[in-house]
Amino acid sequence: MASGDPLEDRVILWTRFTPDDPTQTSIPVQAIVSETPEFAEPMVFAATADEKNNFCVKVDAAGLKPDTWYYFSFVAGNAASPVGRTRTFPRRTQRVNRVRFATVSCSNFPYGHFSVYNALAKVEDRDLDFVLHLGDYLYEYEPGTYDDPASVPNRVHSPANEIVSLSDYRERHSQYKRDPDLQAVHQQYPMICIWDDHEFTNDAFKDGAENHQPESEGNWETRKLAAAKAYFEWMPVRSFDEDSMRLWRRFYYGDLIDLWMLDTRIEGRDAQASLPIGSERTDPERKLISDNQMDWLTSGLAESGAVWKMIGQQVMFGQLNLAELPQPELLSFLPYGTTQQGINMDQWDGYTASRKRILDAIDGSVENVVIFTGDIHTSWANEIYRNPSSLLGDLFNREALAVEFVCPSVTSPGFPAGLAELVSGALPVVNPHVKYSELQTRGFILMDVTRQRAQAEFHYVTTIADETRKGELDDSKRRLVAVNAKSDQNRAPYRLIVDQNVLQPTRPRSAQVSLLAPPATMKHQQYLADVVKQVSFQESVV
Ligand SMILES: [Fe+2]
Repeated sequence: MASGDPLEDRVILWTRFTPDDPTQTSIPVQAIVSETPEFAEPMVFAATADEKNNFCVKVDAAGLKPDTWYYFSFVAGNAASPVGRTRTFPRRTQRVNRVRFATVSCSNFPYGHFSVYNALAKVEDRDLDFVLHLGDYLYEYEPGTYDDPASVPNRVHSPANEIVSLSDYRERHSQYKRDPDLQAVHQQYPMICIWDDHEFTNDAFKDGAENHQPESEGNWETRKLAAAKAYFEWMPVRSFDEDSMRLWRRFYYGDLIDLWMLDTRIEGRDAQASLPIGSERTDPERKLISDNQMDWLTSGLAESGAVWKMIGQQVMFGQLNLAELPQPELLSFLPYGTTQQGINMDQWDGYTASRKRILDAIDGSVENVVIFTGDIHTSWANEIYRNPSSLLGDLFNREALAVEFVCPSVTSPGFPAGLAELVSGALPVVNPHVKYSELQTRGFILMDVTRQRAQAEFHYVTTIADETRKGELDDSKRRLVAVNAKSDQNRAPYRLIVDQNVLQPTRPRSAQVSLLAPPATMKHQQYLADVVKQVSFQESVV
């Protein structure tokens, strides 16, 4: 089971039931929700596992208290799901002093074990309020393409073909949802997810994709709808209405954070430009997000009163110029999806008019903007300027319009060993706004956010190939990057802090993880049997 999209009074609870009887087309299900892991004073929500939704069940459990942890389980007949833990967000008007969450992306099942998810699920060590999944939750390829059978022979994609049809997408989602480490993350935290290309197919846009061949794979619209239907069935996201593909949405974490989750991939994106030179890349008519979504974002930013304005989205926002690297031979080892010309046309760099609209909206009027990004299997901390190459190594003490934290992948590969350090070392010469990069190791970002500071802790796992070392972190690689909030008290320029001597790793809130909201475990299952009896007794009385 899983949960997601927490609001102040509700959260999406998700599960899937496999019918015993193959002729069954619908199964009545109940979601049981309680503030305690012993299921005291349970609330019951009725739902149905229906064949038309692939027997996936989603309950938008409303009427909950704000800023509260809950425990939940699904029951149907004699079957019960494991017990999960989730939470609601604080009211928009509530003063909030601190929150912790992780950002992750690019979890390719056949590239390795989900060691990163294993590390996140250690509640006592991480103490997260939620997890942001920035896309590439699953990959579309057939076995033998973009995988690593030599390292992890038991992690082979199913079905054994590139996923194209609705049943293909459903089977792939089902395979990922059976991974024990992904299950463990969903069991402990609500997730806020957005799709990127691989939930559809590589380098997707509104009207097609690099990895979609209409001659052999059929109509793009049909495939896009199938992928989106399976996504809404299998992911704990809230739908706007039954047939809508809208995934862009907004969350409030008290008065501390306004969070916009964008869809830069499917809803409004024009085709990637074919060449990094010429006017196509800068054409004002080409869009990365629709006008609808852009207006919603820019007007939201303008009226937001939250301390932090945070944007979760798919592709790198900051400018990245690899074409002028001092060692151009390094370009031949660019990560997957990057053009050989040194500018990745799939990122905001390929849609400069859309980026300009956001910078215009921020510049001079919106403070404390933080952008979260996935997609490229490498770690980055960037300051955002209109024209960073004019900074020439920070000669001018200007301040950034925003900062961007790009998270490492769960498993998908970055640069090959050796070259990662070379490129990372050469980058700042022509990219002075890139304050940190790590181009090889898998991991996650842990964000610890207060009213004064947003600190990103880049954590890395030791291995994704060794199943016995799942969840193990390499603390020698950990890197801290922070930004201080501008406020009436602090008018210092908005810049990233990268000096490891002035930053301290943050600590979990021990009262929360031991007393207020301990992790959901197998032992909580035992309380469920009694609850189910009570529930069915009450129902029979009614
Ligand atoms: Fe990816």
